[in-house]
Amino acid sequence: MKKYISFAILILCIAGCGKSEKERHEEEISATAMNQSEVSSKREHDFIKNEKGFIVHMKDIKVLLKHLQASINKEDWKAIQQDTKKLKNSSPVVYTGANKNDLPTEFVKLDVQFHLDTLELVNACQEKNKDKAMAAFFKVVNGCDECHAKFNPKETSTSWFR
Ligand code: HEC
Repeated sequence: MKKYISFAILILCIAGCGKSEKERHEEEISATAMNQSEVSSKREHDFIKNEKGFIVHMKDIKVLLKHLQASINKEDWKAIQQDTKKLKNSSPVVYTGANKNDLPTEFVKLDVQFHLDTLELVNACQEKNKDKAMAAFFKVVNGCDECHAKFNPKETSTSWFR
């Protein structure tokens, strides 16, 4: 009889331990789920419908800008003309793949400003004045940074200077 009781206690203990193990596991799962929802709420750019395509375009303008900076330095006006033309035709709003009305107003505003800055750059470069061209170039760069500060969650990794 004594043996039987201690056996029952042993069973209870095992069952009890098993349960707490399961509970711990459930806690872990819910913690992971919470982390995930936290991460996704931090992603402020959920409005971008075509994230892969958007990033490819962004990387392209980064390359374009680096090339342009080198061309302005060398005063290679022919190369400058080609680059600025491409830059003028780029549009973060279009690259999102989303309807303009579904985008944050601030994002659209920054896109418009970006477009105005690129036009100014095109004009400055047409004058073939290096100082003016550089000044206009950095105004465009500020526009990139301004939008990234607000809308790019990976902002530090994308500053094109690095
Ligand atoms: C109107 C807003 C806006 C403007 C203007 C803008 N970007 Fe972006 N850019 C973004 C957003 C949003 C992301 C983050 C996209 C993501 O991670 O899904 C991004 C990401 C990037 C990336 C990172 C891509 C990667 O590897 O993840 C680069 C590089 C980049 N942009 C370059 C530029 C350059 C250069 C300019 C200026 C000529 C510029 N962008 C102008 C909104 C903008």
